[in-house]
Amino acid sequence: MIDDPFECTRAMFDLPNGVVYLDGNSLGAMPKSARDRVHRELDESWGRELIRAWNSAGWIDLPARVGDRIADLIGASKGSVVAGDSTSINLFKALTAALELAAPRKVILSDSGNFPTDLYVAEGVCRLLGSGHELRIVDPEAVESTLDRHVAVLMLTEVDYRTGRKHDMRLLTEKAKATGAVTIWDLAHSAGAFPVDLAGCDVDFAVGCGYKYLNGGPGAPGFIYVRPDIQARVSPALSGWMGHAAPFAFEPSYRPGLAVDRLRVGTPPVLSMAALDAALDVFTGVDMLALRERSIALGEDFIRRIEAERPELKLSSPRDPAKRGSQVSFRFAEGYAAMQALIARGVIGDFRAPDVMRFGFAPLYIGFAEVETAARTLVEVVRDNLWDRPEYHARNKVT
Ligand SMILES: Cc1ncc(COP(=O)(O)O)c(C=O)c1O
Repeated sequence: MIDDPFECTRAMFDLPNGVVYLDGNSLGAMPKSARDRVHRELDESWGRELIRAWNSAGWIDLPARVGDRIADLIGASKGSVVAGDSTSINLFKALTAALELAAPRKVILSDSGNFPTDLYVAEGVCRLLGSGHELRIVDPEAVESTLDRHVAVLMLTEVDYRTGRKHDMRLLTEKAKATGAVTIWDLAHSAGAFPVDLAGCDVDFAVGCGYKYLNGGPGAPGFIYVRPDIQARVSPALSGWMGHAAPFAFEPSYRPGLAVDRLRVGTPPVLSMAALDAALDVFTGVDMLALRERSIALGEDFIRRIEAERPELKLSSPRDPAKRGSQVSFRFAEGYAAMQALIARGVIGDFRAPDVMRFGFAPLYIGFAEVETAARTLVEVVRDNLWDRPEYHARNKVT
């Protein structure tokens, strides 16, 4: 067995006994630091300081501070990321800004593996602008060959939420640049999962979630990145007071704030932001290359164990680990029921219609023993048809 450099990080999480948690790609586990911090913000800051805490506890600067910490994990410089709002809202901000920069071009290029919210937001932006913008959706493999000088914005999610397929960010960004397109990358399944090099790849805009691999808690704020040298040319469509150059001057008209700060919109959700801030403590001292190596080893071990025993489970993730994010997906016709049977046995993954069982490997708190338990349980559930009970077929709202 490989030496376990992640035992320390595992101890920083509060996970229930007897549970194997393979859904960190959807909602990260709870770091103890996040729980303690929220208690402190409630009892000491809100409870005692009341409104003074905006200054005394530094609440007002949290979006920038947390943004800088996320920047460290995604290859961005300080001052280029701001935390806040959901990924959907940050996409809206990025897309409206990117289309303005790319005028008069009107085509948004994306792929059919993108997460629905990304595509829905793009549809809404085209409708709202009402000047002939068009969303073009192609197969993930066809993105590179479809890029031409008509494309205004290349908008992609790096890791496919269903299959875990990972785009080549460097190559596609380079190609987009060569054709004059502005790039937006959604890092929902990348940030905190493996090394990302936004600056090195010369990406223009990026957005991502705080509640997946960053472990910020349910509904944690997301983030937005803007390449430093284009920040001054971004004129935010969501021109809220917190993105104003002087929010507390209460001027009658909008003047954009400095740098990425202009992409703040309204009052930040302090408790969620504080939880995310504290959750990021877990990454202190973590070597992201080692994390990636470990995530690949865990995924490979899981695939090997499942394929050796249950050929009816079809791998829907790329077989080449370099082309996968930190999740492994198997297709199985009764995947929903099988996932419920697994969850009833303490192995938590999730399901995406029509037939995808997803298993996320977050090395900060998942090790080889958990992979072995999960694989053994999944093999039993499928081999012995343990999923075939009425209660496992009843669909929950959240799958
Ligand atoms: C790629 C991607 N983008 C965005 C989102 C969600 O965005 P929001 O936080 O606005 O719900 C998800 C959620 O799973 C996602 O996988």
